[in-house]
Amino acid sequence: MMIASHLVDPAEISVNWASIGGLSHIINEIKETVILPIKRRDLFTDSHLTQPPKGVLLHGPPGCGKTMIAKATAKEAGCRFINLDVSILTDKWYGESQKLASAVFTLAMKIQPCIVFIDEIDSFLRNRNIQDHEATAMMKAQFMTLWDGLGTDTNCTVIVMGATNRPHDLDQAILRRMPASFHVPLPNLTQRKDILKLIMDGEPLDRAVNLDILAGKAEGMSGSDLKEMCRNASMYRVRDFMKSE
Ligand SMILES: Nc1ncnc2c1ncn2[C@@H]1O[C@H](COP(=O)(O)OP(=O)(O)OP(=O)(O)O)[C@@H](O)[C@H]1O
Ligand SMILES: [Mg+2]
Repeated sequence: MMIASHLVDPAEISVNWASIGGLSHIINEIKETVILPIKRRDLFTDSHLTQPPKGVLLHGPPGCGKTMIAKATAKEAGCRFINLDVSILTDKWYGESQKLASAVFTLAMKIQPCIVFIDEIDSFLRNRNIQDHEATAMMKAQFMTLWDGLGTDTNCTVIVMGATNRPHDLDQAILRRMPASFHVPLPNLTQRKDILKLIMDGEPLDRAVNLDILAGKAEGMSGSDLKEMCRNASMYRVRDFMKSE
């Protein structure tokens, strides 16, 4: 039940490719390696090598669009999306966590095609070390076994998609299970301009505002920073107006 509450129908996802700015190179690769094999199963049935990857990793600094890409992938592929809150699996007071992990995969198989999204996957599948609580170590091993189970059935379209800011902290065993890995970096000048354009689309914008200049000055900002900057600017405008009234 708890898992089902994290389940999203693709029709309900509001993010699509068009809402993501400046990442067309990554989007194109995802279209080829992930979406196409899902949507056109008929083209790929004769080969094991062309199956969609069972694991996809998105890594890069915070606020640059990883979560957006994961949601848009589900939307564009017409996949159900399970936003797996790993705290339910790792909470050591939650005695049922083992059952829950297998319930996630059982549910995903039932409703496939499906993407199981694990945000901050490093917090869950970090390098295994001796300090690991025994239950945590078992949990990880079990999760990987379940994950490998996906590979045995070629007709099964369940993809585990993970996002992290710290790919180096991930267990080698996990990295191996995520052969498709995409770096989502801080946006460069043109990408910042693309993102600003998207954010300002449909907003009342004074003619004096030059997005080129803004994008130039916003070096080092993430997509999320840019959005926050625009939001602040629009709030100032309202505040100024209220003062002058
Ligand atoms: N490339 C982009 N195009 C448009 N908006 C963006 C982009 N990147 C980030 N944003 C804005 O920033 C917000 C945060 O993005 P998102 O949640 O995808 O970041 P993230 O990479 O998952 O960050 P975190 O590592 O903190 O989870 C988005 O909701 C969106 O408003
Ligand atoms: Mg995120």
